[in-house]
Amino acid sequence: MNLLIRGANQVATPTGTTARRGRELSNLEILPGAVVRCEDGVISFIGDESEHRRRFEPADEVLEADGGCVLPAFIDPHTHPVWAGSREDEFDRRLRGESYMEIARSGGGINSTVRATRLATEDALLATTMARLDTFLLHGTTTIEAKSGYGLDLITEVRMLEAIARANAIHPVDLHPTCLAAHEIPPEHRSDPEQWVEELIAVIHPEIARRGLAEAVDVFCEEGVFDLEQTRRLLAGAADFGWRIHLHADELTPLGGAELAVEMEALSADHLLCVTPAGIAALAQSQTVAVLLPGTAFFLRMPWAPARDLIDAGCAVALATDCNPGSSPTESMPMILALACLGMGMDVAEAVTAATLNAAAAIGRASELGSLEVGKRADVIVLNAPTYHHVVYNFGVNPVRHVVKDGRIVVNDTRVVSRSVRPRRSSAV
Ligand code: NIG
Ligand code: FE
Repeated sequence: MNLLIRGANQVATPTGTTARRGRELSNLEILPGAVVRCEDGVISFIGDESEHRRRFEPADEVLEADGGCVLPAFIDPHTHPVWAGSREDEFDRRLRGESYMEIARSGGGINSTVRATRLATEDALLATTMARLDTFLLHGTTTIEAKSGYGLDLITEVRMLEAIARANAIHPVDLHPTCLAAHEIPPEHRSDPEQWVEELIAVIHPEIARRGLAEAVDVFCEEGVFDLEQTRRLLAGAADFGWRIHLHADELTPLGGAELAVEMEALSADHLLCVTPAGIAALAQSQTVAVLLPGTAFFLRMPWAPARDLIDAGCAVALATDCNPGSSPTESMPMILALACLGMGMDVAEAVTAATLNAAAAIGRASELGSLEVGKRADVIVLNAPTYHHVVYNFGVNPVRHVVKDGRIVVNDTRVVSRSVRPRRSSAV
């Protein structure tokens, strides 16, 4: 089965199989009028249509780009996509001046979503997750990292990760599951958080690893949640479980999470709203990708992460939605790219690289995903506009017209075509 994407005004893509750093982030390859051939789920040709005609038989199926821009599909390397309930009441409270942490300490925040999620069945969680995945897909995202973390007990953390595995098996979006049982201290352990840390280390992490439900682990390293020393202990077993490490680092306070992520050789250090110059220097010297989530700064009305300082220091910067009910309820990577440019001062080419190739690197997948090159997976989007700048230019509006996943059209003219056919892979882990 093969597919030809033709009629584009331009194909725009970063290139390579590793994260781009510093100035390299803005190097996009622009191929005017190029066609993209997808064969058995992989890109087999990119270039002039006349050359394609000489070298290949006509394709089984043709997708007309209609003068639109063709880009690699977005990869979202930090999401919390499984939850029950909703927290719009906190949105109002924050607008009136309460802080995220004040709301959390008064019984709201993560623990309010935990209460709702513990009561939800796996089928109910699956149904709402599937609907969110449709929204991701419609906005051009074909791969996400997906965290647990609204169970905070073994049974509900497992239920969330099972829902992620089931969604991965039936939805075109690929999900890479992360165990974030260390997301908060549950109410039953509030009086003795150390006991909760011990339970995570001795029981919950090993059992989730034994069941093969996660490929990475994450901790909310934050003042009043898990401190540096507890985070270090929570991450110490990761290698034994075959888990990569992501870290919620320096989100609300400058705790030194970035430095700890580098020390633990994490795949990514995420958030970084409050990263210090020492944290930036440590990241710049490391392989750890700095995943920025400007939706969170926007929604919590906090200062932006210092994207320019990170890029200028030579860090590998990626972008993600942080999709979650409390601090960034959005599935839209185009919105995140707009915030990255208009809020954090990235240029559009940097933002595209950060949301594709570098986002792939942040989940350890840059060798197969994140750019349009022969041999990479055929995950492609077509915009309804002629150049890549339009991802953010017409801000707040979805610029994605078609989405191709594994060489198959899954969104055609802004509609999800098929949810349930997954010819290549059946499980995330
Ligand atoms: O990434 N910081 C911790 N976790 C989320 C928020 C989760 C929530 O508020 O429900 C975040 O911002
Ligand atoms: Fe997060």
